[in-house]
Amino acid sequence: MTTTEDLAAALEGSRARFVAILEPLDEPVLRRQHDVLMSPLLWDLAHVANYEDLWLVRALGGEPTRAGLDDLYDAFQQPRGVREALPLLDLAGARAYGDAVRLETLRWLDAADVSPDSPTRLTRDGFVHRMVAQHEHQHAETLLAAIQLLPEAEGHVLLSSPPPPSQVTPPDEVLVPGGPFRMGSVDPGALDNERPVHEVDLPPFWIDAAPVSNGQFRTFVEEGGYDEPRWWTNAGWKWRQEAGLVAPQFWRRDGRGWARLRFGVVEALPDNEPVQHVGWYEADAYARWASRRLPTEAEWEKAALYDPDTGATRRWPWGDDDPTDRHANLGQRHLGPAPIGAYPDGVSAVGCHQMVGDTWEWTASDFRAYPGFEWFPYAEYSDVFYGPDYMVLRGSSWATDPSVGRATFRNWDFPIRRQIFAGFRTARDA
Ligand SMILES: [Fe+2]
Repeated sequence: MTTTEDLAAALEGSRARFVAILEPLDEPVLRRQHDVLMSPLLWDLAHVANYEDLWLVRALGGEPTRAGLDDLYDAFQQPRGVREALPLLDLAGARAYGDAVRLETLRWLDAADVSPDSPTRLTRDGFVHRMVAQHEHQHAETLLAAIQLLPEAEGHVLLSSPPPPSQVTPPDEVLVPGGPFRMGSVDPGALDNERPVHEVDLPPFWIDAAPVSNGQFRTFVEEGGYDEPRWWTNAGWKWRQEAGLVAPQFWRRDGRGWARLRFGVVEALPDNEPVQHVGWYEADAYARWASRRLPTEAEWEKAALYDPDTGATRRWPWGDDDPTDRHANLGQRHLGPAPIGAYPDGVSAVGCHQMVGDTWEWTASDFRAYPGFEWFPYAEYSDVFYGPDYMVLRGSSWATDPSVGRATFRNWDFPIRRQIFAGFRTARDA
């Protein structure tokens, strides 16, 4: 049962996280564009408020909280590369705008029918409020990816505890039986591209029981994987040449070994941690080198949620209980992935570890609509991105809030993207 109090608390939580991430940074740092791939952080701050004004105030009957800002903070009108040059609100102005919108949001929330049988589809079961809170959490993850790109001197120290140690050694791979399973979600917070639930019939396949580790990927690097065109697609090899790739982003040689830079700190590369900051082309090349392939999106979801004993699709890999810190590394509890085998209580029915949390996982699938898809509430969330240009990532990262990290959530990006918190696991036909 969705209550207005729950929805208000979800919105308060996403805002508190956003503010906490930006808090240690000075205004000139927030104002600057640090990388062509990322917005100035200050743009994100007012953008999430503007999106909230659009969907939780105006779409429910209200007037714009502040006129004249829509063009400035529309992600489609303002590609990331131009956002630094815009007459953005300053820090105090952006905060005040966010607070003003929130007051209006709460007023309209009080009057909204958020019951499961609300005649208003937008507010039914709290959909649009969940969508806006998720949007803010998705941008919070983007903030962390942008902050990770700051020069070392500006390294950003976030409060964080180390992740739990490894407790078990998963097997190399597990067999997922063939046959039909139900794919997609009916969760009240599920976004349009996760719907509708539909049956998918797959032949049996083997899939890695855990994400590919730094140690495994290091072997690929050291055995010349980046120098051997036969492991790469044509487009991938072209990109590897143009960009001069030799290892995952943030890796560097350290004497005879490897180190990695993370949030301004250089540390020895931990072999037993899932690899992150690889693009799709690198994941695909590794898989071919290992005589394997990336799993399709449907295979990934079946390995995460299908229970062969009952034939049912679970809500989470471990069952129907909401995630806790026993199950998965979600919600920015830690500032990076946990070692392989750190969450034995989060294993899926077929035996896959760390399917949600830790790192996003590239799949073999490009981003396509499910059969019977209808966009809701706007085409620019999913519909305009469908097609061969984007590859799907599944399974969320350590930086993903649990409200976004459900195993049916579909993320997508260009195959060259490496600044996101993404790794992968591999599969093969049975
Ligand atoms: Fe956005």
